[in-house]
Amino acid sequence: MTVTADLAISLDGYIAGPHVTLDNPGGDGAEPLFEWIHSLASWRERQGMTGGEDNRDSDLMREWFDATGAVVMGRMMYDTGEEFWGDNPPFRTPVFVLTHRPRPALVKEGGTTFTFVSDGIHSALDQAKAVAGDRNVDIAGGASTVQQYLRTGLIDELQLHVVPALLAEGLRLFDGVGPGRRIQPVRVVDTPLAVHLKYRFLK
Ligand SMILES: NC(=O)c1ccc[n+]([C@@H]2O[C@H](COP(=O)([O-])OP(=O)(O)OC[C@H]3O[C@@H](n4cnc5c(N)ncnc54)[C@H](OP(=O)(O)O)[C@@H]3O)[C@@H](O)[C@H]2O)c1
Repeated sequence: MTVTADLAISLDGYIAGPHVTLDNPGGDGAEPLFEWIHSLASWRERQGMTGGEDNRDSDLMREWFDATGAVVMGRMMYDTGEEFWGDNPPFRTPVFVLTHRPRPALVKEGGTTFTFVSDGIHSALDQAKAVAGDRNVDIAGGASTVQQYLRTGLIDELQLHVVPALLAEGLRLFDGVGPGRRIQPVRVVDTPLAVHLKYRFLK
């Protein structure tokens, strides 16, 4: 069972801009983080759209969909994504949402369920592992959630899609994540859209 995290990040280390709200889900100036994804055939297919580029970036997105058996995310990522994902969200797996505000589970079309977890990051991860089968559990975001799992050493593999953009402010991925971890490079894929870096954290 591999626990992954897979995020788009600016060259200066931000995964969202400042002033994230329900109407401004990525924060100010965050378009470069996400717009390249919207052109990918694999992503469009999962959103119920046709067309798009069938390129190496699209293959990497498909690899994530195929490899992921359950997802953990924070309530801010859920709240800002809920409307956009609609009735048939792209995950098609169980999703566990960390929150201090419990609510009943939701069953969506296509195999996505949202279960709201209020008893901590270990509980959410254990619940995700229990249903992921032989596939990965992905800690999908946002910053606060991934940071908590990074700090406790619970993430095995981290893939960063580094986009050629500077945000200068917003949510930084590695704030509060201490030094001292042994990190092994696994793969570098370089395309005109992003540099895709995969690392493994050694125990
Ligand atoms: N670049 C990327 O690839 C990427 C990927 C995903 C998300 N994002 C971006 O990340 C941003 C959101 O990140 P974020 O750091 O603000 O928020 P987040 O991690 O999505 O959610 C944080 C919220 O989740 C709940 N939560 C987190 N840990 C908890 C715990 N241990 N126990 C109980 N509840 C807990 C709390 O909500 P409550 O107290 O309200 O319940 C907390 O305020 C969005 O802009 C999104 O677009 C970017």
